[in-house]
Amino acid sequence: MIYQNVALIGAGRVAHHLAKAINNSGRKIVQVYSRRIAHAEELASAYKAAATDEITNPDASADIYIIAISDDAIAEVAGQLAVANKMVVHTSGSTPMDVLQAASSNYGVLYPLQSFAFNQEIDFSQVPLCIEAADPDAKENLMQLARSLSRDVRQVDSDTRMQIHIAAVFANNFTNFMYLMAQEILADGKVDFDILMPLIEETTRKLQLQHPHNAQTGPARRADNGIIRKHLDQLRDHPEKQEIYKLLSRIIQQHFQKK
Ligand SMILES: NC(=O)c1ccc[n+]([C@@H]2O[C@H](COP(=O)([O-])OP(=O)(O)OC[C@H]3O[C@@H](n4cnc5c(N)ncnc54)[C@H](OP(=O)(O)O)[C@@H]3O)[C@@H](O)[C@H]2O)c1
Repeated sequence: MIYQNVALIGAGRVAHHLAKAINNSGRKIVQVYSRRIAHAEELASAYKAAATDEITNPDASADIYIIAISDDAIAEVAGQLAVANKMVVHTSGSTPMDVLQAASSNYGVLYPLQSFAFNQEIDFSQVPLCIEAADPDAKENLMQLARSLSRDVRQVDSDTRMQIHIAAVFANNFTNFMYLMAQEILADGKVDFDILMPLIEETTRKLQLQHPHNAQTGPARRADNGIIRKHLDQLRDHPEKQEIYKLLSRIIQQHFQKK
């Protein structure tokens, strides 16, 4: 095993899930860094690792340093982490690999495509891992590490990774916000959100069988303008929801008129 000893830079959501998967793969977490020592200690203690809040004091026994911190802080923290030619990767969807040049001559990316939360069970072997590395040998070693964590490992460059991240924002973050809007609309009528669960589950299940283009239904898809006007009128006291409804209905209609 090339990357046997792992140091985690960060103790947030991704670091928690990665630590568990890395530990399960038979590797050793040797150190956890977090700017708040309590966070580093909490994660480190679960794996009998050392905890630190000093980024300039990385554990020299680590074979790979995984930076899993807020995107805005990656470049700055990498600039303080001097580990010569040891492998350094980050886990961000939209941060270029090159920001790690300051940390080491050996760098790359290990981007897990999933929405992570604390206290959530995730089957990490199902999480797509997008990897990138500057050096061919490092890429091979990173591939070996990634394959021991997940069945779905893909080599993806920085531009493509950003495309994937944007797609994930549409597929997950925006969709989830739509669920929140739906929940509020139902709450106005004193109806529980669970009435939508069969619909939500069927929408996701159907996507395994057909293209999203073919799965689209609803008033905008049918160009049913009478219903659309009634819905917009009903939403008159909710200008944000009315705006979203209007915009999406217009774009759906334009999209299907073109085809
Ligand atoms: N969450 C996801 O679903 C997900 C999925 C794929 C990829 N990612 C990527 O993974 C990375 C980590 O995301 P996350 O969700 O795990 O983040 P998170 O749970 O919000 O945790 C953020 C971490 O960044 C640290 N941090 C924030 N600002 C810092 C600074 N200025 N200097 C040093 N450390 C700082 C925090 O330290 P303290 O707690 O000690 O303050 C904490 O350890 C990001 O690049 C993100 O884009 C996230």
